[in-house]
Amino acid sequence: MELNEIIELDKKYFINTFGARTPVCFEYGKGINLWSTDGKKYTDLFAGIAVSALGHSHPNLVNAIKDQAEKFIHCSNLYYIESQAKLAKLLVENTCADKVFFSNSGAEANEGAIKLARIYFKKKGMPEKYEIITLEKSFHGRTLATIAATGQDKYQKPYSPLTPLFLKVPANDIEALKDAINENTCAIMMEPIQGEGGINLISKEYMKAVRQICDEKGIFLILDEVQSGIGRTGKLLAYEHFDIEPDIFTLAKALGGGFPIGAMCAKDHVAKAFEPGDHGSTFGGNPLACSVGIAVMETILKDNLVENSEKVGEYFISKLNSLKDKYSFISEVRGKGLMIGIQISNDKSKEIVTSCFEEGYLIGSVGAGVIRVLPPLILTTNDVDNFIQVFDKALNKLQ
Ligand SMILES: Cc1ncc(COP(=O)(O)O)c(C=O)c1O
Repeated sequence: MELNEIIELDKKYFINTFGARTPVCFEYGKGINLWSTDGKKYTDLFAGIAVSALGHSHPNLVNAIKDQAEKFIHCSNLYYIESQAKLAKLLVENTCADKVFFSNSGAEANEGAIKLARIYFKKKGMPEKYEIITLEKSFHGRTLATIAATGQDKYQKPYSPLTPLFLKVPANDIEALKDAINENTCAIMMEPIQGEGGINLISKEYMKAVRQICDEKGIFLILDEVQSGIGRTGKLLAYEHFDIEPDIFTLAKALGGGFPIGAMCAKDHVAKAFEPGDHGSTFGGNPLACSVGIAVMETILKDNLVENSEKVGEYFISKLNSLKDKYSFISEVRGKGLMIGIQISNDKSKEIVTSCFEEGYLIGSVGAGVIRVLPPLILTTNDVDNFIQVFDKALNKLQ
């Protein structure tokens, strides 16, 4: 089909919540590249918003899908599922979690975390402990509870009145957090690095203080690792940067490498609060999704992609910092591993993203003037050099 025909169909039949989409439709991909319906090659440094960790059409992922699909795709959670048990084991063995519950998306994983924290205290005879403190500029998803948890007005305004009892505090301000905590607080929930809010870093000092407060008050630390998890920041889980462990953390995006899956991972003492009937999902953790999750996790671990993310990410950030020295309108380069934001002070971030697109590179923009780069974890320093040339040219046009 021609691109204009696809656009016409989309306009007529699809409910447009995504605004003016970039005028391209991809037909196939390999590694870090995608090819459009009109045969043009693109280099994907956005990975479908931190999803395609192994790049496109990775043979391990394709084979896992084929093998499982040939056996069977789905069965109910009323039966035992081999790949579900195995993926849960893999996650537990490689993280601080003791137990895992699977969902289909990040928002759903976060819903599970919120429900778990609340039911824990209800079962302990403290139903008033219901409030969850989250951070300004955070993003936790698009369901009603997760937009209430999200610290950005633009997602919340259309849906007020919001699901109650989520309090917001500014990030990295421990006094504000102490002031907000009260006898009804059951958890503090945050991203270890804010993604949709503009790649905002959380300081180690703050994270450690939050952990300490949670311990002192007997409340939970929930980390939303939907975007930062599975190697993105140069550690398998971003909490490892802070020398702390959360009570609950959530995953999605990269866990399926493009196949929808989410996970809510918890320490045993919290996980126990979920008993039969308390939570569920028809599709969550089905045989196909979990087989893909195993293939992604095993490939990331075997091919040292976490280390690659750390090494290539450092190189990428150093190259971007060299461009910052050259162009005064780059006010900051921030991030960890391959989760990188470039703050542009002249309001031209979207123009730069378009200019890179025209040169065959996919990157994103987010928040107020932030360019976001979230490439597949298989990226090489050579790929970085190629992009930097294109990026330099795009920036130079604005001089
Ligand atoms: C940190 C974080 N949490 C939750 C979500 C929601 O995930 P999903 O779109 O899979 O529901 C996102 C999506 O961007 C995210 O970045």
